[in-house]
Amino acid sequence: MSNNGAYPIVTVRIQRFNPDTDKKPYLQEFQVELKPGTTVLDALHEIKAHQDGSVTFRRSCRHAICGSCAMNVNGKNELVCKAPLKERLDRKGRVTIRPLPYLPIVKDLVVDRSSFWEQYQRVKPWLVPPENIPEKEFRMSPEEVAALRNAETCIMCGACYSSCQIIALTKEYIGPHALLKAFMRVMDPRDAIPGERLADLAGGDGVYRCRTIFNCIDACPKGLNPTEAIETLRKLAQKRQAFEAARAERQKRLSEPIPSP
Ligand code: FES
Repeated sequence: MSNNGAYPIVTVRIQRFNPDTDKKPYLQEFQVELKPGTTVLDALHEIKAHQDGSVTFRRSCRHAICGSCAMNVNGKNELVCKAPLKERLDRKGRVTIRPLPYLPIVKDLVVDRSSFWEQYQRVKPWLVPPENIPEKEFRMSPEEVAALRNAETCIMCGACYSSCQIIALTKEYIGPHALLKAFMRVMDPRDAIPGERLADLAGGDGVYRCRTIFNCIDACPKGLNPTEAIETLRKLAQKRQAFEAARAERQKRLSEPIPSP
């Protein structure tokens, strides 16, 4: 690559794998200029645009919103559009980028996320409203809204899913991402089927499969806590009927003003 000497040159090691031609993945090194503000994603773009157009990766928004650029950088899952290249270099000025682990590789840094989305669909991540929908709006207390906020900001990047040691062993586990979204629906006072959800989540592939290793918390680029949500779902599953009855009572007052504490 050309270098006018203005910027230091650093090494980006990318795991390459083309299932049509390669027997197994291997690391390929590229050199890029370390310009101020360069992210790991910028380095990938630079390589693809000027050095090797066949390097394959996913990205879209470049602003940590869409979740498509999650990869494994130096052994840790993260959004590469949010990762400053300078801070990811080792003492020899190298960074190593691999695809998300425990998922089938489609090509280079692109993985097949089918199991991730299947588990998401499986928990019915949509709101199931009651039959007696209020004519005006649903009224929720600040506490009820706050309980959902954690899960609401999840961007479904897959960093937690592919860092989970249970997922490494089996895809017969719902996974932290989908359990976090299921938690959001269970806690939502507008949802009419929390009992059905809790019964389902307490099955063999659900909340009791988690071994509270906390990898999902470490991996989440949004600082969310799926483990805590899973713990809450476990507790609620044990008092499912009482929770269901309380929800039915709550839904009789969905359009009423929230009393001040
Ligand atoms: S490109 Fe959208 S989150 Fe990174």
